[in-house]
Amino acid sequence: MRKKITVVGAGNVGASAAINIAYKELADVVLVDINEGVPSGKGLDIAQMGPVEGYDVKLVGTVDYEATKDSDIVIITAGFPRKPGMSRDDLLMKNFEVVKTAAENSAKYSPNAIIILVTNPLDAMCWAAFKCTGFPKERVIGMAGVLDTARYRTFLGEALQVSVESIQALVLGGHGDTMVPLVSLTSVGGIPITQLLDQPTIDAIVQRTRDGGAELVKLMGTSAYYAPAAAAVEMAESILKDKKKVLPCAAYLEGEYGLNGLYVGVPVKLGAKGIEKIYEVEMTEAEKAALAKSAGAVKELIDVLKDKAGIA
Ligand code: APR
Repeated sequence: MRKKITVVGAGNVGASAAINIAYKELADVVLVDINEGVPSGKGLDIAQMGPVEGYDVKLVGTVDYEATKDSDIVIITAGFPRKPGMSRDDLLMKNFEVVKTAAENSAKYSPNAIIILVTNPLDAMCWAAFKCTGFPKERVIGMAGVLDTARYRTFLGEALQVSVESIQALVLGGHGDTMVPLVSLTSVGGIPITQLLDQPTIDAIVQRTRDGGAELVKLMGTSAYYAPAAAAVEMAESILKDKKKVLPCAAYLEGEYGLNGLYVGVPVKLGAKGIEKIYEVEMTEAEKAALAKSAGAVKELIDVLKDKAGIA
């Protein structure tokens, strides 16, 4: 039987995710949005690419969660994108309401699904979805690290003029300007990056990675969507095919990295059960301090949600 993925939010990220899923023939897709007509139209449009591109995937769009029933995976992209001058955190309360509705409805119709969050501010939205669904922590996962690492690898590939596929890297922490690209664990074909690039160049790439989202908002007037969608679909693929890829994802921590009760990006094993393992990696003292700072920024947002939205 075909797998089923619901994508909540048929905007830029959601529609791009649906296209990626179709190209990979990963699952049938249900696009859900509040914007009547748009999800059905985009679903139909992407379905009509099938005969041209040669994929056999059922795509439907709807405003009704009934059609999402028994999804294996729900990718939540619904919400407001960042506009120039806005930080991800400005989006907090607006997107909380959207994610709450999406998470509750998804849990109601697909109680066994694995949820992948994309809506920003990412780590806080993961926490909200975790609380609103009551799902076990391994089934509520955030997409951030795969994207941030992809940006980091893109910049490194450009600087070194090598294939981005040869670059192994890890970006941890919250999905914001405090994220932590782990330079000590970055390598190119197995060669530590510090042997190939000087420190000022590495520092500039780390900074550009941290500002990667803002760079695109400035250029496009809205937040990025092709790479975020591709990153979410890589996670979905690892889960549906039980590939057990090790990827940086936002995960609920209970003591790992000395952090408790919040979502932060860490390396995890993604398989059929969702997060099957959280890896704790050795870091330099500076990296540890940067991760603690990044987790602090996430905690501030969660505290606002606890306070204003009254969730414990
Ligand atoms: N339920 C379902 N869909 C909703 C809801 C809701 N309660 N509220 C808004 N939406 C839909 C909008 O109608 C819109 O079609 O979410 C979609 C968002 O699409 P875009 O505005 O194109 O935003 P997008 O670029 O896709 O970004 C969505 O992902 O990367 C993050 O920061 C980004 O939080 C933002 C999210």
